[in-house]
Amino acid sequence: MFSSMIIEKFQQQSTPFYHYDLGLLNKTIEHVAGLAKKYQFDIHYALKANSNEPILKLLKDAGFGADCVSGNEVKLAAKVGFDAKSILFAGVGKTDKEINIALDLDIKAFNCESVQEIEILNELAAAKNKTAEISLRINPNVDAKTHKYITTGLDENKFGINQADLAQLLQTLKQLNHIQLTGLHFHIGSQITDLNVFKGLCLRVNEISNWFKEQGINIEHLNLGGGLGIDYQQPDEHCIADFEQYFAIFDEFLERKHDQQVHFELGRSIVAQCGNLITRVVFIKNGLNTNFAIVDAGMTELMRPALYQSYHQIDNLTASTATADKDTEKVLYDVVGPICESTDCFGRAVELPESKRGDIIAIRSAGAYGEVMVSNYNLRDRNSPLYTA
Ligand code: LLP
Repeated sequence: MFSSMIIEKFQQQSTPFYHYDLGLLNKTIEHVAGLAKKYQFDIHYALKANSNEPILKLLKDAGFGADCVSGNEVKLAAKVGFDAKSILFAGVGKTDKEINIALDLDIKAFNCESVQEIEILNELAAAKNKTAEISLRINPNVDAKTHKYITTGLDENKFGINQADLAQLLQTLKQLNHIQLTGLHFHIGSQITDLNVFKGLCLRVNEISNWFKEQGINIEHLNLGGGLGIDYQQPDEHCIADFEQYFAIFDEFLERKHDQQVHFELGRSIVAQCGNLITRVVFIKNGLNTNFAIVDAGMTELMRPALYQSYHQIDNLTASTATADKDTEKVLYDVVGPICESTDCFGRAVELPESKRGDIIAIRSAGAYGEVMVSNYNLRDRNSPLYTA
């Protein structure tokens, strides 16, 4: 939980803002780095989850690579100091401009998702007299058993190359002299909490990678993507994700050919728990059947509840401190923002101590896909994040 000193600090800041506990982030990074070393896995952090520079610097210093999904992310990763040979560039719709940025920086590899993309990459690389290393993102048709909007590995999704098209693609690749195929890439979705799903993924990847072997193609690296979920119900114990079990599954079920590197692109599981959205109660309004706690953050600051009906624990830090020793009654509030949309709601019937104007509220586990998805709809202001050690 938050110390009274930090709550005091929150009181003095202009709200809403993101708070990041870099101490917790460091612990998480150390844990992941230790396991990666044990299993000899390479971690490429997925910048899309949170691209704040102090956070990226810690990840870079821990020896992680960078998984980028836009030209700007590639540029940022290079600027922060990630070695070019540890930068991967993914994405289903890379523009020529973005591809050129990555070619100029000599990044490690492009994760490619269509034949046309590979043909264009070949042309652009030829113009620079370079050879682009690629991984083929293959759609494995494995159900991630997560929210429909963040499922990416089913036939109906726009991502990856279908297995049925691979034979023809290999023929095409023979004509492309500025492309070197070195890896296979898979990413089936995000916030995956049923870890059995990853066993299924391993078995499918084994089949696909054996097929490539039969075609006489040497695959240097297998990239299993990200997707490990976190427990949004448990921010208090600072529960980080179950990395032990996650990596153990890949170690057991993924067939690794001699010298083959195994890459992961984790985002959420690394940064979600270290971040909170800190906001303030503007008004309390008692509706006919519902009490509303209207706060100064909205879906513009944290879009996940509006977009995916996702749960984030909500704590009233001011009232919890004031009533810490007392057995006070709880009140049910709909915690809503100021935006002109009814989906602008962080939680319905949230049990909180009686709350009042000015109270500081923390919306927990918001370090991943929180700040990166901020919009300025309604011409909203934006405050800088607060980092603590
Ligand atoms: N690799 C690729 C190719 C991805 O598309 C993603 C996430 C990752 C890695 C990292 O996945 P993670 O370890 O973070 O699950 N905005 C949504 C999540 C979108 C995920 C997009 N892709 C949310 O707030 O839940």
